[in-house]
Amino acid sequence: MDIQSIPNLLNIKEYPESEIKRILNKELIIKLSNNENVYGPSPKALEVIKEAVENLQFYPDPQAASLKRKLCSLWDIEKEQILIGNGADEVIDLILRGLLQKGDEVIIPTPTYDNYAIGVERCQGICRFLDMPMGNFDLVEIQKSITNQTRMIILCNPNNPTGAFISGLALEQFIESLPEHVILLLDEAYAEYEYAHVSGIRYISKKNILAVRTFSKIYGLAACRIGYAVGKSEIIQKLDDVRLLFNTNTLGLIAAEASLDDPIHIGKIKYSNQKSKALMVRQLEKQGISYYNSSGNFIMINTGVNSVEMYRRLLERGIVVKPILHEKYQTCIRVTLGTDEMNNYFLDTLFGILYK
Ligand SMILES: Cc1ncc(COP(=O)(O)O)c(C=O)c1O
Repeated sequence: MDIQSIPNLLNIKEYPESEIKRILNKELIIKLSNNENVYGPSPKALEVIKEAVENLQFYPDPQAASLKRKLCSLWDIEKEQILIGNGADEVIDLILRGLLQKGDEVIIPTPTYDNYAIGVERCQGICRFLDMPMGNFDLVEIQKSITNQTRMIILCNPNNPTGAFISGLALEQFIESLPEHVILLLDEAYAEYEYAHVSGIRYISKKNILAVRTFSKIYGLAACRIGYAVGKSEIIQKLDDVRLLFNTNTLGLIAAEASLDDPIHIGKIKYSNQKSKALMVRQLEKQGISYYNSSGNFIMINTGVNSVEMYRRLLERGIVVKPILHEKYQTCIRVTLGTDEMNNYFLDTLFGILYK
C-alpha cells in the first residue's frame, strides 16, 4: 500500500507491531515509537505468569495486597500511600479526575507526554504550557509562574520526549519552594534508566506530591498494564475510592511483583540502554546530526527535516518513530533505543535519507 494513502497515518506509531505489518503489508517492521523495552521482562516474571495461567477463572486481588507489600518495603512507605492502576496512564487519569475541578490551572512544561494535556482538558482544567528551553527544565521559570489559581504542576522526570532530567538537588529545592495549594505530579516512568535519579517519593510527607511509576518501561511489562502512584495517604485514599474495584489484573500484578525481585535483570537492561545510547550518539555526532541528551530509553533527534515528512520516509522503509509536532521542535523525531541491530538499521536508513 502507498504510504500516502493510509488514513490516520500518524496513529500508526501507537499500533502493535502485528497491526502495523498488516496495514503496511510489510514483513519487516522496526517499532521505535513507543519507548518499549526491547529486551523484555525478567525471566522471573515470565515464570510466575506461566504458573498463573492455570487460574484465570479467579478475579484478581482488588487491593493488590502482595504487590503493595513489596512496594512498601522497597520505598519504606505504608500501603495506604500507594495507588495501583492499569498502567501509569490510568493512575495519571485517576489523579487528574480526582483532584482537578473545572477552571483549575495546571502548569505543564513542554514538549512533554501528550496525555497530560489531554487529561487536564478532559477535566475542564486549564493548561498553562511553559517552554522548556533547549528541551530542558527551567525550574525557576516554573516557580515564577505559580499563581493562586495553580492547582497542579506536572513534571515528567526524565522528560518524554526531550530526555531532560532534574537532578536530586534541584528537585529538592523546587519541592521546598512549593506553596501548600499546589500539587506536584511527578511522572517517573523512565526513572530507572537514569543512574542519578532521585525520586519524589522521598518527599511525599513534606508536600503534596504524587510520584508515578510504571512497570511498562524498564520492567518490560507494557502488555500487563501495571503502574502506581505514591503520595500522602489522605490524597491516595481519596483517589483509591473512585477507581474501579478490578482495575488491574492478576498476571500483571504477579509479574510486577516478581520483576521487583530481579534487580540483576533490571541492571542489565539499564547498562545495555546506556551502551546503545552512547553508540547511537557517537554515530549521530560523526554525521553532524544534533540530538538532545537523554536520561531515558529514547533519544530526540533533530534531523533538520519536517518531522512528519521524516516519519513518513522512515515508515516507507519499515521503521516507526514518533514525529514531534510541537511548533518549536518540528524537525525532531523521538526514537526508542532498540537492540544494536535495530539501532544500526535505523541509523543507516536515516543517513541514507539525509545524505543520498
Ligand atoms: C512519560 C510517560 N508516562 C506514562 C506513560 C504510560 O505508561 P503506562 O504504560 O504505564 O500506562 C508513558 C508511556 O509511554 C510515558 O512515556
